[in-house]
Amino acid sequence: MKLQVLPKLIIHGGAGSSLHGKGGVEVVRRSLYKVIEEVYSLLLSRASAKEAVVRACQMLEDDPRFNAGTGSVLQSDGQIRMSASLMDGTTQSFSGVINVSRVKNPIDLAKALQTSPDRVLSDYGAAELARELQIPSYNALTDLRLQEWIQERQQNFKHTMASVVAEPELAEPELVETSNARRGTIGVVALDTQGRLVAGTSTGGKGFERIGRVSDSAMPAGNYATIHAAVSCTGIGEDIIDECLAAKIVVRVTDGMSLKDAMKRSFAEAHQNKRDFGAIALDASGAIAWGKTSQVLLAAFHDGEKIGDTLELPVGTEVGCIDN
Ligand code: GLY
Repeated sequence: MKLQVLPKLIIHGGAGSSLHGKGGVEVVRRSLYKVIEEVYSLLLSRASAKEAVVRACQMLEDDPRFNAGTGSVLQSDGQIRMSASLMDGTTQSFSGVINVSRVKNPIDLAKALQTSPDRVLSDYGAAELARELQIPSYNALTDLRLQEWIQERQQNFKHTMASVVAEPELAEPELVETSNARRGTIGVVALDTQGRLVAGTSTGGKGFERIGRVSDSAMPAGNYATIHAAVSCTGIGEDIIDECLAAKIVVRVTDGMSLKDAMKRSFAEAHQNKRDFGAIALDASGAIAWGKTSQVLLAAFHDGEKIGDTLELPVGTEVGCIDN
């Protein structure tokens, strides 16, 4: 039977400065493609965009390489606190959790809150929800992230954030030195066979931040959707909030601008304001777009025919768009 709409999928595993060489790029590419392959098949078999986004977020949260779920960075006090959100463009419903600890998949809590009268819960409330849902307690800490924190502690937290992906080489002090200004998040945007758009984003935060700092990932600045477009952001949360990036791009498309123009304009503004972030997007026509002001954006997509990625874009490529 012919599909009503050809599904589209784009995911990201963070943005920041370059990975450590070709080896690092290939490992990240394999991780991202695995998610794209499984989740695009789900979309082809008529899974809803929401099911697809939640599944892709779970897979990325479970991959210790990325800064979300397992492998989340540690905050200044050595604790992991994660944030995640889900936005359904059809119902225009945003839900999320802020600074939740000891759960495997924060996106599951965001999903559970989609139909709740209280749709964004922070630390204590999110922990209560996890208990109510009988979600087992889980330790998201990995040795690499612990090493990274211990090293930072020895250097008196001179970096203001952790690295975008966990790479073993980071255990060497000189590499930590050059790896400053790299940050991670995971995000997914899907268009399903019914033409529904959904965005999901999940993060361990910047790393080494003050207790109580709130990430953009559980705000409409970092994750937003309508029936017209959907966007997930990654990068420095404060920059994303200052630009209100996801909502700005989506509202521009909702008001009639093409996705390509909305991305170009939003990233031109971001460039002018010296922001450091990236974003992935889809619109209802099936156009796929990405943008970045950071050195790299770790994104991959399925355009209905093939898989592509943004891991090795030529210098100066800040915005890309594939029309439907
Ligand atoms: N964009 C993730 C964060 O800054 O927390």
